[in-house]
Amino acid sequence: MKIVGISGSPKKNGNNEKIIDYVLDIAKQKGFLTGRIFLSEHNVSPCTDCGVCKGKKECSIKDGTDKILTLLEDADGIIVSSPVYFGSMSAQLKALFDRTLVLRRGGSLLKNKVGAAIAVGNSRNGGQEKTLSTIHDWMNIHGMIIVGDGSHFGGIVKSPFDEDEVGLRTVKETIYKLCDVLEMIR
Ligand SMILES: Cc1cc2nc3c(=O)[nH]c(=O)nc-3n(C[C@H](O)[C@H](O)[C@H](O)COP(=O)(O)O)c2cc1C
Repeated sequence: MKIVGISGSPKKNGNNEKIIDYVLDIAKQKGFLTGRIFLSEHNVSPCTDCGVCKGKKECSIKDGTDKILTLLEDADGIIVSSPVYFGSMSAQLKALFDRTLVLRRGGSLLKNKVGAAIAVGNSRNGGQEKTLSTIHDWMNIHGMIIVGDGSHFGGIVKSPFDEDEVGLRTVKETIYKLCDVLEMIR
């Protein structure tokens, strides 16, 4: 079984990328295959609602995002980490989410994958819960199965993440929950 991690930060080697590597390491130790998508390495153009994907798995925008979509399609579990930007997810992550419309219209291709989310802000209460909620909205609209951290909504982190002991615990509990649910399905 494969878990794919997405970092929604445009910043290379920032908190979100380190968190995705951290959770994928845990998943690897538990025997999962892993894949990662760092949006700092891609330039995902926004959806233009051109309509080409209506009824078929085809996108008119040729910017390499199809490779990311294939990784998502092949995953059993997807864990998404976003920076909080003005109380919500990054524009880079939203652009990717909108481009996944082709996977929905192309046959609900993310349906029943297990999803989990992490949000990282500079403030203690900077909008992490709202950011998780918008990531969960994307997962719900794809018919995914959403897990939190076993008590609340997922990973809630104040940067720098490695100094946020409480936040790090929610990150660990979130990847543990994702792995547990995938193991139950297997
Ligand atoms: C445009 C912008 C808006 C931001 N808005 C918020 C915010 O609303 N709440 C918050 O806690 N942090 C906010 N931040 C701080 C980022 O969330 C923080 O630097 C980021 O999570 C660090 O992740 P990274 O190191 O992976 O980029 C903002 C940063 C930027 C650049």
